[in-house]
Parts: sequence; C-alpha cells; structure tokens
Amino acid sequence: MTAVQAGTLSLAMSEEHEMLLAAVREFAQREIAPVAAEYDESGEFPLDTVRKMGEMGLMGIETPEEYGGAGMDTLAYVLTMIEIAKADASHSTILSVNNSLYCKGILQFGTEAQKREWIRPVASGAEIGAYSLTEPMSGSDASNMASRAILNDAGTHYIINGRKSWVTSAPYADRIVLFSMTAAEAGHRGITAFLIDTKQPGFSRGKTEPKLGIRASATSEIIFDDFACPVENVLGGIGQGFKIAMTVLDAGRIGIAAQALGIAEAAYEAALDYAREREAFGAPIGSYQMIQQKIADMKTRIEAGRALTSMAILAKQRADQHGGRYTSEASMAKLFCSEAAAFVTDEALQIHGGMGYSKELPLERYYRDARITRIYEGTSEIQRMVIARKELGLR
Ligand code: CAA
Repeated sequence: MTAVQAGTLSLAMSEEHEMLLAAVREFAQREIAPVAAEYDESGEFPLDTVRKMGEMGLMGIETPEEYGGAGMDTLAYVLTMIEIAKADASHSTILSVNNSLYCKGILQFGTEAQKREWIRPVASGAEIGAYSLTEPMSGSDASNMASRAILNDAGTHYIINGRKSWVTSAPYADRIVLFSMTAAEAGHRGITAFLIDTKQPGFSRGKTEPKLGIRASATSEIIFDDFACPVENVLGGIGQGFKIAMTVLDAGRIGIAAQALGIAEAAYEAALDYAREREAFGAPIGSYQMIQQKIADMKTRIEAGRALTSMAILAKQRADQHGGRYTSEASMAKLFCSEAAAFVTDEALQIHGGMGYSKELPLERYYRDARITRIYEGTSEIQRMVIARKELGLR
C-alpha cells in the first residue's frame, strides 16, 4: 500500500493499482501523447489507439471479467482517466463514455441476458459504446424530451422517433444506451431506457459537431425514424429511464473530475518546467513572486481536486456496497475539478506567454480541452444546483 501524499489520490493504493498506474502512464505517454496534436488538428477519431486501450482492458475497467472487462474498481478507473487525459483529453472522453455511461448502466440495471449480450463487445474494446440523453431542445432540463417510443400493437417492439444531440462517440458507436419518452404525460417518470444496435434500420447519424476542444472525440446527432426496438431491449423497466440516466451520470461525473485533473496536471507540469527554464530580466521566471503565486495556486487547486475526487470514490464505494447515493460528492468533485482545470490551464498558458498561445506547444490544446469539463455531464450551474438542493433539503 502507498501512503497518502501530494500528487496521489488520498486513498491507499494496492500493488495492483500501482502496476496499472505505471502501465497506463507508460502506454499513454508512448502511444497517445505523440499523436494527440495531430488528431486534434485533423479531428479524426483515433480508432487505432482506442483499440489498443481496449486490448489493455481499459474500455471496461470496472466491468467484471465474466462480461469482458478488467474487473477492477473505481480507483483504478480514476487513475486511468487521469493518465489518459494527461496525454490527450479526447481519448479520455471516449474511454469515459464506454466505461461509465455505457457499461455501468447495463451492469447496474440490465438483466443477465442483456449483460451477456450487450456489455462484452464494448467492455472488451471490440466495439464502441455511447449514451444518449440530450436532445436539441433539452440539455440541462434533461427530462423534457421530444423523442417518442411507442409500443406497437403486437406488443413486440417500441417504435422510436426523434432526434438526439451531442452524443459523444456517436459517429463510431456500435451500441447506444438511449433515453426516450414512452409516456409523455408522466413527465420524468415517462422516460424509458433502451439498448440500441446502431446497425438496425431506422437509425442514422446527423452532422458531426465541429468543436472547440476534445476534437478527436467525435460527437454527433443521432436520428430515429420508425426505429423498431424489441421489448427485450428495454433497460431497467418502463418509466425507469430518468433514474437510470441520473444514476449513471453520478458515476460519469467522477470520471469527468478525473479527466479535468489529468488535463490540469499536464498543463501544470509544463508550466513548472517552463518556469524553471525560461529566463527574463536575468533570472528564471520561477524566481519571481508573481510566477510563484501562480504555481502555488495551481498546485493547491489540483491537490484539493484530488482530495474531493478521493472523497467521491469513497462515497461511491460505500453506495455500491450498502446502497444509497453519492450524487452530491460526485457533483462537488466534478464542479471543483473542472473549474480548477480552467484556472490551471489558463495560468499555465499565461506563464508560457506568447509560446502558450502557439500551436507549437500543447498549452492552447489543454486550455481548449478543459473547457468542455464545465459543460458536459451536467454544467457547473447544474452541479451547484444539485449540491445546494441537497444541502437545503429540497430533494
Ligand atoms: N440518482 C438517482 N435518482 C435521481 C438522481 C440521481 N442522481 N437525481 C434525480 N433523481 C430522481 C429524483 O429522486 C426524482 O425521483 P422521483 O421520480 O422519485 O421523484 C427524479 O429523479 C426527478 O428528480 P428531480 O426532480 O431532481 O429532477 P429535475 O428535473 O429537477 O432535474 C437535474 C434534476 C439534476 C437538473 C437533472 O435534470 C440533470 O442532471 N440535468 C443535467 C443533465 C446532464 O448532465 N446532461 C448531460 C448528458 S451526457 C453528456 O453530456 C453527453 C455525453 O455524451 C458525455
């Protein structure tokens, strides 16, 4: 076991965690970091390196081995997310959707038959998974859906119609956990989750979003036009979709906290090196108090983010074992880490001056990539709402 220290998560790590961390760090720096700028520039989906992550067992870290995963825990997942995000945020986005948003939901709410059929190909990395909640007219207000899933007269299929937007990995997704409205009059209790095979007729992809950051993680609309989904592919029961979506997002938000930490740390380490090497007015810029203040504030926020993420992992482990929720802890970790990443990437760029603004260095990419962590899987405003409602006893 490793003692708690700055630069680690405030949790005891087993020998297995240490080995995973070393292997993922080495892989990420050798295989992903060198190609990150190229993929960012082209916006191409990095299928080769994604497949390699699959071969290493990283596409289903918390999925039990019997369903094709690595059978590890949330700490292992967070350590992996940090290291992959440090090399390239786009890769970590693809990884997080596969792990948290796709596999996690089916593991928790699927029948044995669904787990056997739907998890293995995605957890093993052979196929890509996605999660689709958002619609063109509903993002934060997630239960306000226009898409409809109506049971056919024979009672064998739900016929799905409508558009979903901002679906991460959708252009390459083989399978999707979809949320759609089966009983509009019931509000959020009328939402149902479905397991979608994207090869079936009635499914198509809309425009791929041109994005500011995480440009290599493809994001698009998806369109359902009389898509016939067999009733066996309902996940977790009719009308249970909103709770499933929210439960899954709790896990997802811990992953985004980890992603934000990884981006922040990459920027921070670059800034530290630059502050030691770059000279101005006859001395390294790190010798000046204005730079030292930035370094101290960056480091403190990263460590505070690690502590909050550790707290969220512990709360999740408790909930996984004994029931209950860890919604607020996950929201606090995501809120703080994503805002810390914005601060750290901005200050790191500032320390680099004009060079930070240039595409010759990765600072401007870190700055752009960090921005999404305050938006997806619930904006900072939504996280604050979730935290405050709990504190005020409003939910
Ligand atoms: N776990 C379990 N159940 C939950 C829950 C959670 N975390 N949060 C809410 N619920 C339950 C409530 O207990 C309530 O249950 P009842 O039916 O028993 O009353 C029900 O869900 C409705 O709860 P609320 O009244 O609190 O719902 P709301 O409409 O006020 O919305 C919200 C709550 C927190 C704002 C929610 O809508 C939300 O999180 N919005 C943001 C959505 C989001 O994160 N979208 C991102 C999608 S994924 C993405 O970014 C793209 C990608 O591919 C990565």
